[in-house]
Amino acid sequence: MFSKAYSAAIHGIDGLIVSVEADVSDGLPIFDMVGYLGSEVKEARERVRIALKNSGYMLPAKRITVNLSPADIRKEGTAFDLPVAIAILAAFGHLPEECLKDILIIGELSLNGNINKVNGVLPIVYSAKQQGFTKCIVPKENAREGAVVVGMQTFGVASLTEAVELLSGKGEYTPEFVDIKQLFRRDDLEETMDFSEVAGQKAAKRAIEIAVSGMHNILMIGPPGSGKTMLAKRIPSIMPDLSFDESMEISKIYSIAGLMDQQALIAKRPYRSPHHTITTTALVGGGMNPKPGEISLAHLGVLFLDELPEFQKNTIEVLRQPLEDKSITIARLNASYRYPAGFMLVAAMNPCSCGFFPDRNRCNCSINLVKRYLNRISQPLLDRFDICIEALQMNYKELQIQEKQESSADIRKRVDIARKIQMERYEGQNIYFNSQLSPRTIKKYCKLDTKEQSLLEQAFIKMNLSARAYHRILKVARTIADLDQSDKIATKHISEAICYRSMDQKYWGE
Ligand SMILES: Nc1ncnc2c1ncn2[C@@H]1O[C@H](COP(=O)(O)OP(=O)(O)OP(=O)(O)O)[C@@H](O)[C@H]1O
Ligand SMILES: [Mg+2]
Ligand SMILES: [Zn+2]
Repeated sequence: MFSKAYSAAIHGIDGLIVSVEADVSDGLPIFDMVGYLGSEVKEARERVRIALKNSGYMLPAKRITVNLSPADIRKEGTAFDLPVAIAILAAFGHLPEECLKDILIIGELSLNGNINKVNGVLPIVYSAKQQGFTKCIVPKENAREGAVVVGMQTFGVASLTEAVELLSGKGEYTPEFVDIKQLFRRDDLEETMDFSEVAGQKAAKRAIEIAVSGMHNILMIGPPGSGKTMLAKRIPSIMPDLSFDESMEISKIYSIAGLMDQQALIAKRPYRSPHHTITTTALVGGGMNPKPGEISLAHLGVLFLDELPEFQKNTIEVLRQPLEDKSITIARLNASYRYPAGFMLVAAMNPCSCGFFPDRNRCNCSINLVKRYLNRISQPLLDRFDICIEALQMNYKELQIQEKQESSADIRKRVDIARKIQMERYEGQNIYFNSQLSPRTIKKYCKLDTKEQSLLEQAFIKMNLSARAYHRILKVARTIADLDQSDKIATKHISEAICYRSMDQKYWGE
């Protein structure tokens, strides 16, 4: 007898429907699986055979063939165990074939017949809905992920026996329910860290506000203890709330990485701060069984690289391409995958290995040593920071001042306004932030009058700027003007933007 069940494979961050066909015939009692299978899928044979036996199904000695199609996509992972077992049961007549017609099935089997969680449930269920499925069976632990897909009934099951009962209409099973509104309630998401805890540092806070408003990459340079890490940790607290669509996009990535942890959706902006010992693969993604890296886990949020020069040089250099493209393509022998990587890069560093350059009372590093330290950051990477600021050490007096500091909520209000202006200006153009402007769109949206033009020209000559730096100044000036709710980019906006470019001249210039 023959039967067919539906399942799905992951490709990049999308699910692709896979049909699982089982055929039972007379002949030598062997169990064969075909269809361009990765090693974990090949091992499904053993898990399925033993799980079926331990769930009480004695299969007659027949020849079993299972085929996963389409044949041109490679199937990886353990999520095919359950659909394979179900298709075999149907082929042996333990289940009516019609009950498999319009339901998608995924899950890993334990030898005792229990169902274990798998990665990628959200993108699979999401794609299944788009393909017209309205019902799916997933591991109990992943049920909340599937339940956020509107129009899909997601059933969570804990064992093979439960899955069979559900399919044959025995027992009471209700689809998982998640209250999506509740997930986005601000009180439940309240940030624990707030800018009001940071004393002084007015200039740094202002630069961060601009950076967040236009999604500009920012580099902070300064001596130990000047509060760089403290400032960076508070950046998510001034970022705009996530929309449902954004949350869905981020959650798909976390689902594939296996980081959902029984949450239904990721409702907070990501903040990732990998240690400087991180490998290139963990940072950008990839590996044998491809997974998104930190740059994708930081999508629509912040990637914070603390102690930037301490990272392996080749590891941070790979960031250059995703920083431009907002995504990463991982090419492998048999396929290539694309993961989103639209993060805001925040980096912090000391100016030398002791940390106190150019304070000659405290820093004994030779000029050569300082240069070598700074040169761990290449010019092209440095060019990708629109804003570069110095974090200065606070003195005792400044830390003692009891002046009330502005809260993150107050700063966020201004950021929200600047973001709204950008959204309206770029509507329908696939541009969301000023930092995404290309040289062509800069011409259109960052027009300068003669006075502003000549100011920028002087700076260009005096500071010996590159073409890239010139464009970055214009984009930052656009954001500063937006924060000011000014259509026109005025002299003060240009000169402030130039300031954020002059810090790298101070350290890296001749
Ligand atoms: N502006 C400030 N207001 C309040 N506390 C501060 C401020 N600056 C620094 N601190 C205190 O100093 C500690 C050290 O700051 P932080 O770790 O952010 O410094 P850093 O610049 O990252 O130093 P390093 O270069 O050593 O990593 C903070 O945890 C905080 O307690
Ligand atoms: Mg630090
Ligand atoms: Zn030094």
